[in-house]
Formats: sequence, structure tokens, C-alpha cells
Amino acid sequence: MMKQRKILYGGDYNPEQWLDSPDILECDIKYMKAAGINVVTVGMFAWSVLEPEEGKYEFAWLKRIVDNLYQNGISVIMGTPSGARPKWLADAYPEVLRVRDDGVRFLFGRRHNHCYTSPVYREKVGSINKALAECFHTHPAVIMWHVSNEYEGKPSCHCSLCKAAFQKWLKGRYETIEKLNAKWCTTFWSHRYQSFEQVEPPSSVGEQELHALTLDWKRFVTEQMADFAENEIRALKEGGISQPVTTNLMYDYQCLNYDRLSQCFDLVSWDSYPVWHRGSDILTARDNGMQHDFMRSLKHQPYLLMESSPSGTNWQGVSKLKKPGLLRAAGLQALAHGSDSILYFQIRQSRGASEKFHGAVIDHYGGMDTRVFEEVAAIGKELQNLGEIAGSRVRADVALIYDIENLWALEEAQGPRNDGMYYHETVMKMYNAIKKLGVNVDVLSAARDISSYKLLAVPMLYMFREGIGDRLKEFVQKGGSILLTYWSGVVDENDRCFLGKTPYGLTDMLGLRRKEIDGLYDEEINVLVPEEKEKEPFREAEMPEGKMQERYVCRNLCEILDVWNARTLMVYEKDFYRGTPAVTESHYDQGVVYYIAADGEQRLYDHLLEKLAGTAGITPIVSGKIPESVEVCSRESEGTEYVFIQNFHHEAVEIKAMELDGCVLLGERKEVLNPFETLILKRGIAGE
Ligand code: GLA
Ligand code: ZN
Repeated sequence: MMKQRKILYGGDYNPEQWLDSPDILECDIKYMKAAGINVVTVGMFAWSVLEPEEGKYEFAWLKRIVDNLYQNGISVIMGTPSGARPKWLADAYPEVLRVRDDGVRFLFGRRHNHCYTSPVYREKVGSINKALAECFHTHPAVIMWHVSNEYEGKPSCHCSLCKAAFQKWLKGRYETIEKLNAKWCTTFWSHRYQSFEQVEPPSSVGEQELHALTLDWKRFVTEQMADFAENEIRALKEGGISQPVTTNLMYDYQCLNYDRLSQCFDLVSWDSYPVWHRGSDILTARDNGMQHDFMRSLKHQPYLLMESSPSGTNWQGVSKLKKPGLLRAAGLQALAHGSDSILYFQIRQSRGASEKFHGAVIDHYGGMDTRVFEEVAAIGKELQNLGEIAGSRVRADVALIYDIENLWALEEAQGPRNDGMYYHETVMKMYNAIKKLGVNVDVLSAARDISSYKLLAVPMLYMFREGIGDRLKEFVQKGGSILLTYWSGVVDENDRCFLGKTPYGLTDMLGLRRKEIDGLYDEEINVLVPEEKEKEPFREAEMPEGKMQERYVCRNLCEILDVWNARTLMVYEKDFYRGTPAVTESHYDQGVVYYIAADGEQRLYDHLLEKLAGTAGITPIVSGKIPESVEVCSRESEGTEYVFIQNFHHEAVEIKAMELDGCVLLGERKEVLNPFETLILKRGIAGE
């Protein structure tokens, strides 16, 4: 990406808000340099200043800003302005505004709410993008383009243009209306269609319970957004750009399929705003780490942390400040997971409107002598010695399947628990268990290649789209290990239930089938106990080798299994299915699968994944016991490994049980890690 390796450091900068204050603009440059900032993102919300009247472009001010940044050694990520439009545009062409699912068109205002099908909007965005590209594509400051801002798929647009595009898309997918009727099961409640033109998008005042329709609508919205993004990128290319293009993705965003959207871009970037200091910070760090891993795994290459707050936000329920040291820990966590940047929203705090109280590098007080500025500047200084990390890759032997189409189907299904299926929570239990092992993990959709991993964690994979079951089976056949849970392999890509034994296609391998699934009330629990101990008081010492040795609480969902060829590790302790299998182990060809039939507590996942990782030959990044609040990650580049050890606790923690070889790149080799402290080690990779 860049000639000299460096970590990109900076953030969103909105000089258009300060054009009448040259002293402030000058001060910004001085402060950026003092903070070690080497890149800023500009232009993203500047449409009304860049094109104050239709067709009248005014780029001179931006050119002056970009020149000045360049002269001061600061690079630019050039934004395109489609995320928010000028009033004149909405007034002249109301079709650019989104329409609600009850047919009402939104009024002008806010952002991220344009119709992504509207030919007029695409044309206007295309024109300004092309003009910007023509003006800036050869500018030496511009290292990257950033189209739009946080593309949003919710609420989706229900205008007549989008509806017609949906019908056309369905025709391409199903060819005949008979095929659509069959795949969508429309004979149920007599909802058969006679033509594609009759199909309406799902709506709160219309159809909402034809799940295949809802699923295809969500797929269509993603496709349409990707098409919109491609239109933006095409215009930039027509304007002559050769720099890479990205857009900023969001935390656990469920209204677009990022697997698909990210294909439009050269590199992935995302915006991270965790809720820190609420409960356990290591859990927040893990949750954030999981998103970092998901974003990195979209392309298996370095990505960017595009936004994060230097202190609080202004849109969370409570705008908590980051305690001293946390800003550094959170930034370095991005590097640990494979990001080549630490970027903030925003460089200078806006004076009015909705984000006037959002955290910023420079606040309304306007001095460098603030706690936040000092922390930002200290990080900027340290990053100057970490440039060699940029471009290095994360290698993982373990993958966790987190699949957005599965989530869409699972949560709409009207099945065993409409009061919460807890998919994300179950994914996180697996993720936490994996990270406790001190290994790297990729987080992938079920459509991705899994063949290079040794161990797969597959929680609640309700939907088996074409080929998924076969690929899981092949993975085990070739010696892979899988942890699979309840409510997997239930429906196809149209949310049509599989007939016959389920988990579909895997029952031979597992030696079991799901007979029934029981939904538990929120306050109900069951308990999983080792098989032999179900009728006796529990005595740990007597447990045979390789058996589970504990009792685990489970909630929400309990499957009742028919097991004919698997070893039962745990059984239920309660209810009419007391004594029946709840955790099993199946050996198939060269591999092994553990199956969990109920929503068990965290410790169950910890113990099973530890066992399975041992069988799968997974080696931790560093040996020795890792304290609960410590995260370990690594990146590699040309025979060198960078090991990150981070304490996400507000108290110091002992790390003397960890074997920390290699030389110190950041921090100090000591027996304790201070609150929110990071140690980065550098070492050669054995055998390279
Ligand atoms: C998002 C947006 C930014 C800003 C921040 C505030 O990430 O991309 O423009 O609104 O949120 O947290
Ligand atoms: Zn529309």
C-alpha cells in the first residue's frame, strides 16, 4: 500500500466546517504533526460545499487543504460524499430519498438514507466522484479512496424503483414463477404468485411471514448496495484513480452481507466503538477482537481500523470516557488482530449539530494540553517504531463460522424460541473459548474455504446452503476437528426444512440425529452431567480418562438426540429427557466431531475446545498459563513473528507463567502487565 512501511495514524477531518477560520485550520496542521498523525480522511460529508449548486463544483478549497497537508507530510484518504446529500438535490429529485416499508417517502435530513437504486442518485454521485477523481487522482498526498460512509441497509428502500429491481433480480434467480413458488413454499396460506410482477417486498403492513421472501429481500438489498458501490468506484476509475478503494464497515452489522459487499473493495476497513468500562473489559475486548478477526478474515489481508473514538462517543446510552491507557490498548489491539492503522473519528470536534460532543483529538477547548491529546500524541510517537508490523499477516489454524445469512434465517424462523435464539452470544462463547487458548482465529461465513484449518467451531449453523454440509464432512474426513452445536443443518438457503434426518447430510458422520428441540423459558435451566454420574453424587477423582469431569448449566434450547454411533460425553440431568445424550464425540475417517445439543454455559465451550484443540494439534502462540484478562495475538512477515500480549483489566496482572521469548519491540519484559498495558515481542519463526 505504501512504499515505506508505516502504521497509518490519524482520522476523519472535516475542514469544510472551519473554512471561515484560517487560524484554526493552521492550528490543526500544527497539532496533527505534534500528535504524529500521518493521514486524514477528508471530503466525506462535504457535498454541499463541494457542489453548492447543481453542476457547479468548487474544489479549490479542498485542493488547498490537501496541498497543505501534503507539504506537512500528512497523507490523505479521499472520501466521496454520497453518505449525505445537499438539500437542493433532494428537492430537485425526490426519488433519491428512501421510501419506508409502508410506502411513505422520508423527508430530507440525516444521512445514509438514500435510495440505492435511483438512477438520478447514481448519476449525481457518479458525476461528483468522477470530478473529484479527475482533480485528485495524481495528487501525491492521496493514498486511498474511501467511498461513501457506513452504507446502511436498514431501513431498506421500498420505492417503486427498488421494487422493480427486486422483481428483476428474482427473475434472474428463479427463472420461472413456478420455481419461486416451490422454493418459497407459497402454497402455505395460499400465497402463490402468478408472475414476478406480483411480488412485493416484505413489509410491516404486508407480508412478513414468508421467510424465504424476507431472506431474498435482504440478499437483494446487499446486491443492490454492492451495485451502488460499484457505480461509485467505476466513476472514480473513469476519473483516473489508481489508488486502492475502501469503505468503512460497521460493528456486527446485520443489515447487509459484508461477505458480498467487501468483494467490491480493494481493502476492508471498519469503525470500532466498543462499550468500554461496563462490566468486564476483557469481555468487551474479546467482543471487539472478534469483530477485528471477522473484518480481517473477509479478505485474509491487512485491513484498516478506519474510525474509533479518542474518548467517548455521543450516541451510546452513556458517553463513557476511556480510562487512561485504554485508548492505547484499544488501538494496539487493532494492530494485534491485523490492522495496518489506528484512525480516529474525529480530528477536530465539530462546533454544532449532532456530533458536537463526540470525542475528538482536538476538543472545543482547542489546546494540546488535554489528557486525550496527550495520549493520542504519545501513541503517535510509539507507532513510529512499529512501522515494520504494517503488511504482516495473521495466520490461524482455527476458524469460527459466523454467518450472516444464517443469522437472518435463524432469527426470523418462528421456531423453538421467539424470545431469543442467542446466536451471537453462542458465537461469542466459542470465540472466548478459542481466545483463552492463546491462538489466532479467523471468523468466516459458511460459504468460505475451510480446507486450510485444523479446527472449526460451528455454532448453530441452522442454514446449510448448497454444499456446506458436504464441505464440513470432507473437512473431517481429511482429519479436521469440528465443534458443532444444536440447531445446525435444519434448512436450505430458502429456509425450507430438510426432510429426513438432520443435521442434514451429517448424521452418518455424527452417528446421531436430532429428534426434537425443547425451548426453555428464560428462568429455566437444565444441567449437563457426565454420563456415568447422572444417578450418583459427583466425584471428580473417579472420572475415567478423557471424559468430561464437570456439571454445566444449559439454558434456552435443548435437543433430544437419537444416538447410534457416537460416544456420549454428557447427558441431561433433568426433565423427561433426563439421562439422554447432550454432548457426544464421533470419530469419522481421520477426523473428530464433538456435538453439543444444548445451549451450555461458557465453561462447557472452554473445556470442549481445549480438549479438541489438543487432539487437533493446535499450538498456542506462547506457552504457559494465560491469565483471564490477557489477550494474545500474533502477526507474521517473512520469517518474523510479532506477538502481542495485552492486559485488558484495570488492575495489574501477573504473567510470569507465560514463556515470553523473543526481543521486546514495545513495552517491557516483566512479571506483571500493568492495567491496559501491552507487550509486543518480535521473534523468528521456527523452520523459516
Ligand atoms: C460513524 C460514522 C462517523 C461518525 C461516527 C461517530 O462511525 O462513520 O461519521 O458519525 O460514527 O461515532
Ligand atoms: Zn429505492
